[in-house]
Amino acid sequence: MYRTHNCGELRLSNIGNQVALAGWVAKTRLLGSMAFVDLRDRYGITQLAFNEETNKEMLDIAETLGREFVIQVEGVVAERSSKNPNIGTGEIELIVSKVVILNESITPPFTIETDTDGGDDLRMQYRYLDLRRDVIRKNLELRHKLAQLIRSYLSGKDFLEVETPVLIKSTPEGARDFVVPSRLNPGSWYALPQSPQTFKQLLMVSGFDRYFQIVKCFRDEDLRADRQPEFTQIDCEMSFVDKEDVLNLFEGMMKNLFKDVKGIDLPDFPRMTYADAMKYYGNDKPDTRFGMEFVALKGEDEDLVSSKGFSVFDTVESVISIAVPGGAAYTRKQIDALVDWVKRPQIGATGLIWIKKDEQGNLKSSVDKFYSIDDLKSWESALSLENGDMGLLMAGAYGKVHKQMSELRLHMGSELGLRKPGEFSPLWVVDFPLLEFDEEQNRYHAMHHPFTSPLKEHLDKLHSHPGEVNANAYDMVINGVEIGGGSIRIHDQELQAKMFELLGFTDEEAKAQFGFLMNAFKYGAPPHGGIALGFDRLCSLMGGSESIRDFIAFPKNNSGRDVMIDAPAPLTKEQLEDLELS
Ligand code: AMO
Repeated sequence: MYRTHNCGELRLSNIGNQVALAGWVAKTRLLGSMAFVDLRDRYGITQLAFNEETNKEMLDIAETLGREFVIQVEGVVAERSSKNPNIGTGEIELIVSKVVILNESITPPFTIETDTDGGDDLRMQYRYLDLRRDVIRKNLELRHKLAQLIRSYLSGKDFLEVETPVLIKSTPEGARDFVVPSRLNPGSWYALPQSPQTFKQLLMVSGFDRYFQIVKCFRDEDLRADRQPEFTQIDCEMSFVDKEDVLNLFEGMMKNLFKDVKGIDLPDFPRMTYADAMKYYGNDKPDTRFGMEFVALKGEDEDLVSSKGFSVFDTVESVISIAVPGGAAYTRKQIDALVDWVKRPQIGATGLIWIKKDEQGNLKSSVDKFYSIDDLKSWESALSLENGDMGLLMAGAYGKVHKQMSELRLHMGSELGLRKPGEFSPLWVVDFPLLEFDEEQNRYHAMHHPFTSPLKEHLDKLHSHPGEVNANAYDMVINGVEIGGGSIRIHDQELQAKMFELLGFTDEEAKAQFGFLMNAFKYGAPPHGGIALGFDRLCSLMGGSESIRDFIAFPKNNSGRDVMIDAPAPLTKEQLEDLELS
C-alpha cells in the first residue's frame, strides 16, 4: 500500500497514528541536525520532519531530495510546535521513520507555487507542471463540480445526455470550420462541429423531447481571452416549448448553480431588448453591475448641441454621453489620459468632451466657450448629474460612437471599481434582429443561425421588410459576458426554405447543405427550441477570472497552438500521399 492517507487529511485527532503518505516534494528546509519537507498531492500539503537524534539515516536521505521528487514516507503523526493556520494540516507534522524515493525529478522550469515565477509561455509548454499548482487545480475542480451539478439538474428535469458526431459536414454559415480529410473518400472532407445544432434538432424530430450534452465545439476564428478554437458547450434542446419555458428552466439552473457553488442568491433575470441594449449600453452584452447608461444629446428625437458654433457637434449624426459618478474630481491630467485612451486605434474616437458639476453645483465644460450656462444646464438635466459628477460626451456616426462609448463606459466602470468581481448581474437580452445585412456581400446573414424562428408577430414582414424582422432568440448575459444563446426554432419546412432563400441560397444549395433537415421536417417535427451555454465562460465567470484558458486543462495559445505537444504540425509525405493531398 502506497499510502494510508492523502496529504491534506491529517489533523490533531490523528496524533500518535502510524501513517503512510505519498506525493511530490514541494519544498525542503535543511537545518543541519533537522530537516523539514513539504509533501504535496492534489489534496494538500503535509510537513514531514526529519531529526538526526531519532533517525540519522532518514535525515541523510531527506538531504538528497530535490524539488518534485516523488516519494513515499511512513511515520507517526505529531503535534507541531510552530503551527501554520493557513493550511488544513498546519497543526501536525509527520515524524518520518521511512522514506522511499519512487521517482526523481530534474529541476522544474518554474516554481510550482500559487505565485509562480513562470511566465505564460513557459507554463503553457509545461502545462502538466502548471496543473500541479493549486490555483489551476482548483479551477479544474470547480469545472468538475459545475459539470456534475449541471448533469444532475438537467437529468432531474428529464433531459437525456446524447452524444452527437464529431466528424460532420462543413456548412457555409457561421464561423470557419476545422476540416479533416477523408482517406476513404479522396477529395472529400469532414468538418468538426461548430455546435451540434442540426443534430439536436433532429433528436427533437426523433421524439427525444429533452436533450443535453456537455460537448466540445470547434471554431476556426480569431482568439481572445474568452474564445478558444475548441471549447465546451452545455448544449440543450426541448420540444413543445415556447421562449418562456426555455428561459425559466435555464434561469432556474443558473440560480441553482450560484446557490450551490457560491452561496449566492441570484435575482430574477431582467429582460432587455436588443434595441435597448444597443441604445443604452452600445453593446448586446451589457455589463449591468453598474449604471452609466447612455444619454443621447443629439440623436433621432433630440438635439441639445447643434448650431452653437461648435462645428464638431453640428456635423455629426450622434452625440452620446454618460454620467460618471464622482467624476468632477478628475484632474486635468486624468482627463487627458482618458482622451488619449479613446483616441487609441483600438477605440478610434476623435476626441472626448466633458462637463463637470462641482460639489457646489457649478457647471463647467471643456467646450464652454461655445455653450451658454443654459445649454450646459440642459445637458446636466438630460444626464441627471449630481453634485460632484462629470458627464463625458463623444460624437460620431450612430453605430461607431455607440461602440466607442461602450468601451469608454466599461473602462470607467473598471477605473472606478464598479465592476466588482464578487458581484453578479445576470440578464436576458431578447428580440434580436433575425438578419443582418452584409454590405460587402450585398446579402443577409442570419444573426444567430438559419434555424432561428422569426417572432410570430413579425412573420408578415418577412417578405416585404426582412431587415425589420426580429428573431425569437435570446442571450444569457452575466457581467458583460455572453454566457449563452439560443432560440425557438423553425419547425416548418416551408418557412425553413424561405429562410434559406432570404440568406441567398438557391433551392439546390439549400438541398445540398441542409436537405437532411428539411426532409426530417416533413416527418412530423415538433415545435422546439433550446440554448447553448459556454461552459468554459461559465467556469471562468464563477471562478473570478477573465480568461477561459485558466479553466481548460490543456488550452491553446493565442495563435491557436498547443505549444506543449507542438500542434498543429505538418504531416509526413506518406500521410499526405495516403490522403491524396500531396
Ligand atoms: P452560440 O454560437 O451563441 O450558439 O454559442 C453558444 C455559446 O458558446 C460560447 N462560445 C464560445 N466559448 C468559447 N470559445 C468560443 N470560441 C466560443 N464560441 C461560442 C458562448 C456562446 O454564448 N447552436 C447555438 C446555440 C443554440 O441556438 O441553441 C450556438 O452554438 O458562451
